[in-house]
Amino acid sequence: MLFKDQIVPERLPRHVAVIMDGNGRWATSRGLERQAGHIEGAKTVRRITEASVEAGIRYLTLYAFSIENWNRPQDEVNALMSLLVKSLREETGLLMQHGIRLRVIGDTDSLSPDVRRELEETLRLTEANTRMDMILALSYGARWELVRAAKRMAQAVREGQLAADDITEARFGDFLCTAGIPDPDLLIRTSGELRISNFLLWQIAYSELYFTPVLWPDFTKEMFFEAIVNYQQRQRRFGKTASQVAGEGEGTAR
Ligand code: IPE
Ligand code: IPE
Ligand code: MG
Repeated sequence: MLFKDQIVPERLPRHVAVIMDGNGRWATSRGLERQAGHIEGAKTVRRITEASVEAGIRYLTLYAFSIENWNRPQDEVNALMSLLVKSLREETGLLMQHGIRLRVIGDTDSLSPDVRRELEETLRLTEANTRMDMILALSYGARWELVRAAKRMAQAVREGQLAADDITEARFGDFLCTAGIPDPDLLIRTSGELRISNFLLWQIAYSELYFTPVLWPDFTKEMFFEAIVNYQQRQRRFGKTASQVAGEGEGTAR
């Protein structure tokens, strides 16, 4: 039976986050330039976006470019940025067709003006879409985000808009790039690397982690559905005992 047909609609992860890794290795193992891997990886983005809509995922976050990725060779950074602009232009139709709202998290000020312009255009065009939010992590780093939140909170305290005693976990979350977005239920990383690479450190505190050795350009819809089915077989306990959670029914706490 297909994994797609094994998905239980009542227990879908509301938010799936993905560390899309392995484009470079996909290309070099074929004797191609790394850039060819990124082009192929962009096709997977389209595929997994469609798969998310088909499955009924409400929030899909994609780690597209980390703050550390600025340290790659200039040629590769340029190629990634051009590919981003090209994809935004070409895929806006797909976003509109499926009712997908594009959002961005990360240090967008460090993006070049043409990338920012293209992004802002797509953000604006898709703003009213409500079926799924696709959140692109661009020039994103979790430590950058946390330091920024600390600075913004300090500023709010200084200006008398926030009392230090009122800083709760929920209030803290309001100062992050992901304010208003629920935490990821499921985090997928492709390419076999078993690390987080400075992605959403605060938000994944209780996410279910799923690692696959498959390189991002080879990642299929069925593999994505398999990750969802695997997620649905887990019991999320949030610190409670297994029997406590079972007593709450369906095995999903909260
Ligand atoms: C992920 O693939 C894409 C980005 C980080 C932009 P990589 O480019 O990291 O591929 P590998 O890890 O070198 O194979
Ligand atoms: C993480 O991948 C960032 C993205 C997927 C965009 P990397 O390939 O840059 O991660 P590290 O540096 O190998 O941990
Ligand atoms: Mg990598």
